Amino acid sequence: MSELMQIIRARRSTRAFRAELPPREQVMQLVEAAEWAPSGMGKFLWHFTVVYNAEKSLRLARAVAAATGRGEDYNFYGAPVNIVISYKRDEIHAFLDASAAIENLLLMATESGLGSCWINQIRDCCDDPAVRAILTEYGVPEDHIVICSAAVGYIEKETPAKPRKAGVVTVTE
Ligand SMILES: Cc1cc2nc3c(=O)[nH]c(=O)nc-3n(C[C@H](O)[C@H](O)[C@H](O)COP(=O)(O)O)c2cc1C
Repeated sequence: MSELMQIIRARRSTRAFRAELPPREQVMQLVEAAEWAPSGMGKFLWHFTVVYNAEKSLRLARAVAAATGRGEDYNFYGAPVNIVISYKRDEIHAFLDASAAIENLLLMATESGLGSCWINQIRDCCDDPAVRAILTEYGVPEDHIVICSAAVGYIEKETPAKPRKAGVVTVTE
């Protein structure tokens, strides 16, 4: 199996992180991988806001929980680092570009021995005033919507792989 395939197959959604911060340079490499993703029409209208601070990550999680009716203990699984991927509002490729970018980021996290999880929760509440105020404070451009974010950190508890669905490939020759 190729090294890339091994990484692809090893990536899991981590749902329990340790509190300590991984080195900042390591985290920035994940963002670099994200930036090298393809982008529709080569527009690259995304922005990556790195929340490299456990307290700030928790503050954002709590605001998201309040805005979405989640329980008070919602905390992005305790990840000390959260990378918010936003995209210029009203751009047709926003969701596709951001999805390509986050997958690169998640794979790079696996390659570098870190856990990661795709987080979908900020998307629907990024225009909630309390959430938006925090996003703006952290550096998300005001004319952007949040597409997704990645919780990142050292793995506290491994996640077992979910079996992949059979019968989803058709080949025609
Ligand atoms: C569009 C999308 C949104 C997701 N949102 C969340 C989320 O908000 N919280 C979460 O714990 N996992 C989220 N996930 C992770 C999926 O639940 C996970 O990828 C799936 O169960 C397969 O497990 P694996 O990633 O370990 O292979 C999301 C994945 C995708 C692709």
